[in-house]
Amino acid sequence: MDPKRQVRREITIRPARFTDLAAIDAIQSASPEAVHWNPTDYLKHDCRVCDLNSCVAGFLVTREVAPGESEILNLAVDPAERRTGIARRLLADALAQAKGAWFLEVRASNEAAIRLYESAGFHRAGRRPQYYYEPAEDAIVMRFFS
Ligand SMILES: CC(C)(COP(=O)(O)OP(=O)(O)OC[C@H]1O[C@@H](n2cnc3c(N)ncnc32)[C@H](O)[C@@H]1OP(=O)(O)O)[C@@H](O)C(=O)NCCC(=O)NCCS
Repeated sequence: MDPKRQVRREITIRPARFTDLAAIDAIQSASPEAVHWNPTDYLKHDCRVCDLNSCVAGFLVTREVAPGESEILNLAVDPAERRTGIARRLLADALAQAKGAWFLEVRASNEAAIRLYESAGFHRAGRRPQYYYEPAEDAIVMRFFS
């Protein structure tokens, strides 16, 4: 492709703002594998977005559960922007901000997310039978030390 025709990708990872909630909600709605919360509740935790050319292309929600221990609550990327490294960047940003132990749960069938987390250094730490519903499914618990 002619390089002049390529659209420049300006990517920033930044804290979510109230005005991002509609975009977060749209990404969440397009991501059945993700946990579905009222997006307003994400702002009560550490919610960061990937800003791609001034549009929200993905979000990551985390919280510190105890000193030196954090968990990932949700992560999703706009389907049109997947496999371009957005989740990897969101994750790397969060893991660099809070040192210590990190935990998450993921649906056992969610190969894409499990591979992403393994590529970031997470290991399988356990399995919770029938943890999810609609549809019922086991959760894989994953752990990482930052
Ligand atoms: C899982 C998800 C967040 C990945 O986002 P993404 O921005 O596409 O991921 P990245 O481009 O950063 O991928 C990083 C690595 O993760 C792995 N990965 C991501 N998507 C994958 C897929 N569909 N199949 C296999 N591996 C995948 C790969 O190792 C990839 O590296 P590579 O592209 O160099 O091979 C995205 O698919 C998504 O939003 N899914 C729906 C919501 C969800 O499942 N959230 C997780 C809740 S626990």
